[in-house]
Amino acid sequence: MSKPIILTGIKPTGSLHLGNLVGAVKPAVTLSQNRENQSFYFLADYHALITVKNGQQLNRYTMEMAASWIALGLDPEQVILYRQSDVPEIFELAWILGCFTPKGLLNRAHAYKAQRQYNERRGEKTLDAGVNVGLFTYPLLMAADILIMQTRWVPVGRDQGQHIEITRHIAQAFNHAYNDEIFVLPEALTQDNGVVIPGLDGRKMSKSYGNTIPVFATHDELRALIFRIETDSTKPGEPKNPDSSVLFQIFRAVATKEETDSFRRQFVKGIGWQDAKEQLFDLLDRYLTDPRQRYQEIIHDPRTLDRILAQGATKARDQAQMVMKVVGRLTKNQ
Ligand code: TRP
Repeated sequence: MSKPIILTGIKPTGSLHLGNLVGAVKPAVTLSQNRENQSFYFLADYHALITVKNGQQLNRYTMEMAASWIALGLDPEQVILYRQSDVPEIFELAWILGCFTPKGLLNRAHAYKAQRQYNERRGEKTLDAGVNVGLFTYPLLMAADILIMQTRWVPVGRDQGQHIEITRHIAQAFNHAYNDEIFVLPEALTQDNGVVIPGLDGRKMSKSYGNTIPVFATHDELRALIFRIETDSTKPGEPKNPDSSVLFQIFRAVATKEETDSFRRQFVKGIGWQDAKEQLFDLLDRYLTDPRQRYQEIIHDPRTLDRILAQGATKARDQAQMVMKVVGRLTKNQ
């Protein structure tokens, strides 16, 4: 019997930050090391096309994201790593699935609804302002990504749960129409390890807030960012509350339990903010040294990266073509 398939898509729209690393990348890499499953991880470049309208930039983001994941431990020998646009069968299936998808289902999808609500607040004349059909059908392409590989488990953040529900709905509609169990019903694997990393300003670390610590910042950039973290006016020697400190929260997300306990004791004893920043910087710099170096090696060897993605695409297409054969037989008896 073949192994259950785990699949996830990575949207290449910018560089990874520490919040992504701790919340999504690390757990997904760990999951992919389990030999009882077969993992398919891909760069969702044509999803990114919804917003990234510059070919060079899209290509650069895609290669950087692939290099980042490999640098952070993803093993392309174990995981089928590919670029979405290298598997044209996905887009073919997306069309077919569209014919089984009630339009109302996509009307209710979060990203589309959020844009409409935004337009409403701003008093736009039409609520669909700024919405391209790609954004509207985003969940449809995602359903094709998932269903074409016979995916059982989809590791995603909480915000993607609705997309998995939509995927199941579409799969059931298709299976029902042909009275055939062709599509496996996928389930979300929400990897909530409870770690939410605050950004430099104390809000959740997020690209949209501009408060991130990029994973592949240089040593000097990293130091400058850490020293920009906001602190209060307590002086060295005065006790500090670790639980309300951004420095401490970031430290804790990366450190071992022993390191965290010791850092906590120093807060209570009244560590100075400069000193605390120095320690956080040391910790992160140590933690990121190896991946940073691996990242540089990979990104400067585009031929190897191309070869990895080409191999991934071949394997992904084998799987996709197998499913499309059955889909063709069912939809057009051919
Ligand atoms: N929508 C996902 C995100 O923004 C990316 C994605 C595209 C995806 N296709 C997928 C995730 C298929 C899981 C499965 O993070």
